[in-house]
Amino acid sequence: METQNTNFLPTLQSRKVLTVAFVWLLLNLSLPQGKGLPYMTSDVQEVSGKSFDYIVVGGGTTGCPLAATLSEKFTVLLVERGGSPYGNPLVIDRKYYGFSLIQTDEFSSVAQSFISKDGVRNHRGRVLGGSSAINGGFYSRAREDFVKKAGWDKGLVKEAYGWVESRIVFTPQLTPWQIVVEFGLLEAGILPYNGFSLEHIQGTKVGGTVFDEYGKRHTSADLLEAGNPKNIIVLLNTTVKNIIFDTNRKGNETRVRGIRFIKSDGSSHKIHEAYLNQPKNSSGWGDVILSAGSLGSPQILLLSGIGSHEHLKKFDISVKVGLEGVGDGMQDNPCIAVLVDTMPAKREPEPPLVVGIADDFRFIIQAGVIPISFNASRMPIAAKIAFPASKGKLELNSTDPRQNPSVKFNYLSEEKDLEECVKMVQLLEKVAKSESISLFLGIRPAAKLMSSADERRKLCKKSVRTFYHYHGGCAVGSVVDKDYRVYGVEGLRVIDGSTFQESPGTNPMATLMMLGRYQGIKLLKERKDASNSCSQQHP
Ligand SMILES: Cc1cc2nc3c(=O)[nH]c(=O)nc-3n(C[C@H](O)[C@H](O)[C@H](O)COP(=O)(O)OP(=O)(O)OC[C@H]3O[C@@H](n4cnc5c(N)ncnc54)[C@H](O)[C@@H]3O)c2cc1C
Ligand SMILES: *[C@@H]1O[C@H](CO)[C@@H](O)[C@H](O)[C@H]1NC(C)=O
Ligand SMILES: *[C@@H]1O[C@H](CO)[C@@H](O)[C@H](O)[C@H]1NC(C)=O
Ligand SMILES: *[C@@H]1O[C@H](CO)[C@@H](O)[C@H](O)[C@H]1NC(C)=O
Ligand SMILES: *[C@@H]1O[C@H](CO)[C@@H](O)[C@H](O)[C@H]1NC(C)=O
Ligand SMILES: *[C@@H]1O[C@H](CO)[C@@H](O)[C@H](O)[C@H]1NC(C)=O
Repeated sequence: METQNTNFLPTLQSRKVLTVAFVWLLLNLSLPQGKGLPYMTSDVQEVSGKSFDYIVVGGGTTGCPLAATLSEKFTVLLVERGGSPYGNPLVIDRKYYGFSLIQTDEFSSVAQSFISKDGVRNHRGRVLGGSSAINGGFYSRAREDFVKKAGWDKGLVKEAYGWVESRIVFTPQLTPWQIVVEFGLLEAGILPYNGFSLEHIQGTKVGGTVFDEYGKRHTSADLLEAGNPKNIIVLLNTTVKNIIFDTNRKGNETRVRGIRFIKSDGSSHKIHEAYLNQPKNSSGWGDVILSAGSLGSPQILLLSGIGSHEHLKKFDISVKVGLEGVGDGMQDNPCIAVLVDTMPAKREPEPPLVVGIADDFRFIIQAGVIPISFNASRMPIAAKIAFPASKGKLELNSTDPRQNPSVKFNYLSEEKDLEECVKMVQLLEKVAKSESISLFLGIRPAAKLMSSADERRKLCKKSVRTFYHYHGGCAVGSVVDKDYRVYGVEGLRVIDGSTFQESPGTNPMATLMMLGRYQGIKLLKERKDASNSCSQQHP
């Protein structure tokens, strides 16, 4: 008996081991990157007082690919004011697309709403993944023109787009409504038909999407798996208040030492700190990098005393760097939308999958099915002006970093924009009244076309809204240099949509994800070059 037992036991154990090994192998094979997500915590105590090579503020569209890339060589703290997108149906399920925008609250919803001083309601992401967790998920690269103007390396741009696309971008299956819209765009003369393409080209095309074939959204947070997750700590539900400067330095240049942060839920007023690592060798310091978006990044600069003297004085913030451009150049592409359905109905929401790029790239037209409540949706066709001239401004409205700053976009304040809007509405009407769309919806075509340019002008002024492509506030050339370093400060960069002077191509998400990867690679290379030249000096 005893011998039998001892013989039997090892067999059972080795079988178990084999089964465990097999399951482990299967699990790992089915994960696309095999590395898993980095460690995430909402406990500020775990990070308070610690140091890192890089600190990225804002785990959004740009911040996640940036942090992932830096983690290949360095330790990274990624701080996000919102929670995790994983397991949240409002973020992940395509059938709930748009629901996050109708379920907002002041301090915790995944979408934070704000109303610009123009009176236009708008939204921004407040969750790991940022606005890529609440948006339409339409993925389209920037034009070559845009890349050239930005002075980026064409080859590296292509490589960085590819890095994003191989992980979270999918070729969509068109719905009947999207096919009908496609016909409507062609009927309105938005030609040629380009089929599926990730490139920003004139005519009508199908773009990429971050929703996979099972209707699951892949946000930029998924890109965190692509770096070295072991080198990243993601601190969730934590709002960065401002930047800590090094006070023990000689000379007049201000150097960044770390960040101050609070719990996002307001359950405690305690302020915590985290720092940049003192470099071990002479390859230099890392940076605090703001990727908090077009509203968040200028807001943090202002709260840190980087901005115009006059404005900071109003909030009793002592000026560290007098940088006038912070908060300037805020733009939101004016949008006009027409509802083609006659009344709300219970239809499943649909993100846009096709686009019309018309009139020498000046007009962009898309359509979706957007929920207006939990049991009703509408079918708008929306058009945006791609290159508006009107610009606005962002200012603080409070020293509480959890509050929205106040922002005014000055929609259509320049005559040129209003004239373009009139032309755009004319084109939009052609699409909306096309036979394809009318037949599909069972409406008689060509009913009540708008008559005069004057009527269209009035419509533009009265019903201008957002296409959600707002940008600016920390523009390249006025707040950051072409390497995204904040002027007058050492160890501080801004990398996100706030640095754009214009919105790239149809939709900015693709280019912001690319930018996070691209600038991450540049930083890795820069530090490598610096340490190489050091070792040459001291062999
Ligand atoms: C409703 C909607 C639909 C859209 N549809 C599309 C589309 O289909 N295709 C497309 O290409 N673009 C679309 N866009 C635009 C696109 O999503 C944004 O331009 C882009 O995501 C902005 O990226 P970002 O990195 O600049 O900022 P975000 O992605 O907004 O990231 C900023 C992050 O910083 C965090 N943060 C801010 N302040 C702080 C702080 N003080 N402390 C800590 N964290 C902070 C935020 O919570 C957020 O996660 C849409 C946008 C919206 C809002
Ligand atoms: C983080 O914040 C989100 C959104 O407010 C909330 O749902 C979640 O429970 C919070 N998580 C923790 C651990 O506090
Ligand atoms: C010096 O820094 C470089 C780059 O950060 C790193 O690769 C190298 O290991 C460092 N050397 C030492 C001795 O710390
Ligand atoms: C949606 O639900 C509300 C109440 O739950 C109801 O009053 C309303 O009529 C419904 N709308 C539609 C379009 O079904
Ligand atoms: C600014 O703050 C005040 C008071 O806190 C508030 O009433 C107002 O709505 C805010 N304005 C904006 C534009 O957010
Ligand atoms: C620092 O001082 C030098 C010389 O005194 C001056 O040239 C430079 O502009 C100053 N830099 C800043 C950021 O004020």
